[in-house]
Amino acid sequence: MSYLSGKKILLGVTGGIAAYKTTYLVRLLVKAGATVKVVMTPASREFVTPLTLSTLSKNPVLSHFTNEEDENDTWNNHVDLGLWADYMIIAPVTANTMSKMVGGTIDNLLLAVYCSAKCPVFYAPAMDLDMYKHPSTQHNFKQLESYGNHMIPAGVGELASGLSGEGRMAEPEEIVSYVEDYISDKLPLKSKSALITAGPTYEPIDPVRFIGNHSSGKMGGALAMELAHLGAQVVLIMGPSHVITNHNNIDRQNVTTAQQMYDAVHKHIDSVDIAIFSAAVADYRPVNRADQKIKKSADTLSIELVKNPDILASVGAMKLRPFLVGFALETDNELDYAFAKAEKKNTDLLILNSLRDKGAGFKKDTNKITIIDRQKNVIPFDTKSKTEVAKDIINEIIKRTS
Ligand code: C5P
Repeated sequence: MSYLSGKKILLGVTGGIAAYKTTYLVRLLVKAGATVKVVMTPASREFVTPLTLSTLSKNPVLSHFTNEEDENDTWNNHVDLGLWADYMIIAPVTANTMSKMVGGTIDNLLLAVYCSAKCPVFYAPAMDLDMYKHPSTQHNFKQLESYGNHMIPAGVGELASGLSGEGRMAEPEEIVSYVEDYISDKLPLKSKSALITAGPTYEPIDPVRFIGNHSSGKMGGALAMELAHLGAQVVLIMGPSHVITNHNNIDRQNVTTAQQMYDAVHKHIDSVDIAIFSAAVADYRPVNRADQKIKKSADTLSIELVKNPDILASVGAMKLRPFLVGFALETDNELDYAFAKAEKKNTDLLILNSLRDKGAGFKKDTNKITIIDRQKNVIPFDTKSKTEVAKDIINEIIKRTS
């Protein structure tokens, strides 16, 4: 998943030949999960059709203050559009539009939207090399920078005029990366790394059967996605689970048994700042795993079990360890057990779920948690979706680690 996912992008298109590349740009932005609205200058419609851009963006394309073709002739509110956007990208921007952006000339809808926009504005100039070098253009770059606009510099290469030099609009992929980098640079967990354990573990009895539990991995998956959204690099060590965790920042390692989870955790634990143990690890595993399927014969069958390593406690005991968050699922005397667990496993935060709470438990999309810190502060939360719960947990971590 991209940092652009869920973002509202206003794309302004002006009248240069590079306008044809905006078809790819719109596709990339939509593919990244952004909602895209396009505003065109009248001149740009000669280079790329509004129909193409509205089809690709799945939104009407606007270029006039009124919809003359529309029999109701409604007014296109530039202020609403400017306020709607999380980010505005003007690509390509011609020398002419740039000079109007500098001087505040508003003779089309795009310029009115630009002047009304409160969001960060990016612009990707495109022009011939001599126009690019011209002192007025260079002056306008500086002016726009002083207004807080972000230039996505033009590249060097073949130009529409047949000449070669600086002035080629940045490629659509570069424009998308530029905006993604801008967003990620501002994220609160930009330079942090985290490890999460999630899901159940399966402890094999024979090639067919195992000891497991009902954990779905939803809570750990939501934590991984939220951390990744906030810029952290995440190692997600996931037991058997169908939960999808698609994000460029997530390195997912699927494991089956507690021992595999333990090994994977200890391979990465030294290099992370935050560790969250949300997995429902099987406490015991069969001493012997039968090579063949165990046949049904006697009326009773005993399987000897041996304790699995406690992964969280093993990290809690490390001299130098990351900020450590554990989970506790209790059915009675919740707070007492939770305090004892936090002490024993040496956690910085312990997230308590009670099976007595209606909104909490396995496989559900909601959870109800209480957070306990080292000073024995007890912070209760309402029943919420697991994504919202993940946000609450991460907010507490950010408060205590920054
Ligand atoms: O002791 P209990 O299983 O209730 O502790 C729960 C916490 O300890 C959870 O954070 C869980 O992920 C972690 N844990 C572990 N390894 C185990 C058992 C539990 O990491 N073997």
